[in-house]
Amino acid sequence: MSMLKNHGKLERHSLLLTVGILIVVSIGGLVEIAPLFYLENTIEKVKGMRPYTPLELKGRNIYIREGCYVCHSQMVRPLRDEVERYGHYSLAAESMYDHPFQWGSKRTGPDLARVGGKYSDEWHLDHLKEPKSVVPDSIMPPYAFLAKKKLRVEGIGDDLKTLRFAGVPYTDDMIANAEADLVAQASPNQDYDAEDALIARYEAAAERKGTLRIADFDRNPAEITEMDALIAYLQMTGTLVDFSTYEADDLSNRR
Ligand code: HEC
Repeated sequence: MSMLKNHGKLERHSLLLTVGILIVVSIGGLVEIAPLFYLENTIEKVKGMRPYTPLELKGRNIYIREGCYVCHSQMVRPLRDEVERYGHYSLAAESMYDHPFQWGSKRTGPDLARVGGKYSDEWHLDHLKEPKSVVPDSIMPPYAFLAKKKLRVEGIGDDLKTLRFAGVPYTDDMIANAEADLVAQASPNQDYDAEDALIARYEAAAERKGTLRIADFDRNPAEITEMDALIAYLQMTGTLVDFSTYEADDLSNRR
């Protein structure tokens, strides 16, 4: 009886009630959050993940600069309709080297987390120059100017260095050779030693072969353009993890 009487006091005193609510709510918060501080890593390690090559990173920077994320998300949610349309749901590890991540929530166009390998380079080239040429009803704006804009190669090493501050495991070797690696990935059959060096550097990081493509992405051997970089990026999104061999941790072991 007396306990109920005291409760009456609490309910009639707004400040006391607020303090009481804060105490109760923060207990719940602590129970949820505190254990995470004692885990070294909350991202499951997955074979195949490697940092972006300099050319892919340039393409990603162009993707962000042009605001592609305004219409496109990059996260396949673990829901049946999404998985049937786009492929395996996105893993946390797949965006562990993304600063900033491009998950997004706005889908005027389709999700692009797994667009890599879905189309040919030529398709992307035609589509980015004039989307209506391959998708007649498309409302996506054209980006033809990217094919005319020479890619700025200088300074890409600094981009890698900056990302290393944020925890991306770029090695000194990758940073020192960033410009050469960028040129090698967009210039097939020109300098085989440079190609081999690029592949060795990034596939070693991935602990998996075949995570990297060397091509003249914009079909213009005369120069390396912003279009080369953007297509190189689009063609590798979602391709690093080999889902034919990937097995998720037993869900019952996770919270
Ligand atoms: C105004 C919204 C809008 C913007 C901005 C936009 N897109 Fe799109 N995008 C769309 C729409 C709508 C589609 C679906 C129709 C089509 O395929 O063209 C699409 C389709 C695509 C596809 C094909 C996806 C698939 O699975 O078929 C790719 C690739 C793509 N966009 C890349 C880009 C890139 C790269 C940029 C930035 C340079 C960009 N988009 C900017 C609206 C947009």
